[in-house]
Amino acid sequence: MDKILVHGGRRLAGTVRISGSKNSALPILAAALLTKETCVISRVPDLSDIHYMLTILSELGCEVERASGVVTIKAENVDTEAPYDIVRKMRASVCILGPLLGREKEATVSLPGGCIIGDRPIDLHLRGFEALGAAVRVQAGNVKVLAPELRGSIINLRGKFGSTVLGTDNVMMAAVLADGTTVIDGAAEEPEVVDLANFLIAMGAKIEGAGTRRIIIEGVKELHGAEHEVIPDRIEAGTFLVAAAICGDGVTLIRVEPKHLLAVTEPLAQAGFDIESGREKITIRPGATRRALKLDAHPYPGFPTDMQAQMCALLATTDGISVVTDNVFPQRFMHVAELKRMGANIELQGPTAIIHGVEKLGGAPVMASDLRASAALVLAGLHADGITEVNRVYHIDRGYESIDEKLNALGAEIERVKV
Ligand code: EPZ
Repeated sequence: MDKILVHGGRRLAGTVRISGSKNSALPILAAALLTKETCVISRVPDLSDIHYMLTILSELGCEVERASGVVTIKAENVDTEAPYDIVRKMRASVCILGPLLGREKEATVSLPGGCIIGDRPIDLHLRGFEALGAAVRVQAGNVKVLAPELRGSIINLRGKFGSTVLGTDNVMMAAVLADGTTVIDGAAEEPEVVDLANFLIAMGAKIEGAGTRRIIIEGVKELHGAEHEVIPDRIEAGTFLVAAAICGDGVTLIRVEPKHLLAVTEPLAQAGFDIESGREKITIRPGATRRALKLDAHPYPGFPTDMQAQMCALLATTDGISVVTDNVFPQRFMHVAELKRMGANIELQGPTAIIHGVEKLGGAPVMASDLRASAALVLAGLHADGITEVNRVYHIDRGYESIDEKLNALGAEIERVKV
């Protein structure tokens, strides 16, 4: 298990290339189950979550090849039950339910446990499958869905926390081979849902409205193989923008989609940073002043919950009082206790963090918990006095491709230590 040592006080400058999106690649790889033909997916990031998904697909019987960022998948004959020992490691494995149900009319996956960012139910996914005619059985920690046939339906997928990203993905993947037309109301509008829809359309699916709250799917008899390049990872990009805001003197991100990041660049501009967006690139520079913020995380196009921890790290040393509320995962504040160990002055009130900016944080040994909280601690360490030791770095490696190497190339001093 590695740990990383972040030597504070270095300034960042230069250019960083953004990788393909983890949260787009995962459902797209699962969607390859919907055809017996070969699919070729490029710009797939080299992450442990991707490795888990490829292992699950192999265990289900797919032929899987990976050559650097290009994955080739052929799902000629597949099993319908995913292996527990891998599924339990990654909640996103739940997105194999939809394609297996669509293709084989049955699927079994272990129920995703809760995780550090809060309860992770899949009731909305199951509501969608039942609306398409599937029976759902929960037994011995597994969820089994099966349907003699799938029929198009009108489905509302909104829950008390708003839309569901993987739920929208799952129902869309089950509906593309159903008889008749399916309407998903209250659909997630994230760019990753649009990217999945574009891949399914390339495979021969008939889908309209992806990226809006209402997606209409006309079922077809079968899908064929396709090629697809995954969109840039907007959360990796946002993480580097915040790193550059914390201790940068001008950093440019390339191979990025600025329109996917408006909900992040706008608050950074309000906080006083100079943002310049161009074709596939964004440059951030320090501004004349720094301002505290009021931030509310909401489903896309709102401010992303996956950027909430990173912004707390920035606001911890922003003069004034900032207020950050997570309306998607109200418990997603594991990073707060660790930031306070570094000297941050933050109080939690339910789903809201009240952040009183301090002059400087101090380096300390801290514990990574979830993917984004871990990234936030690395960012906080960049600007802290002394050394910040981030343990359980495997959390970061789940969602960031070589984040330490990319930050070091910008001028950071981060060591990865084997323990
Ligand atoms: C996706 O998770 C992302 N993961 C998460 O990113 C991201 O935080 C989340 O969407 C929200 O944007 C992937 O895409 C692999 P949801 P997902 O279903 O789809 C509740 C990261 O750091 N809900 O949109 O699992 C749920 O509890 C990860 O990269 C139900 O109540 O999230 C939450 O409060 C972390 N019932 C809200 O909806 C359901 O059936 C949004 O969850 C499903 C969800």
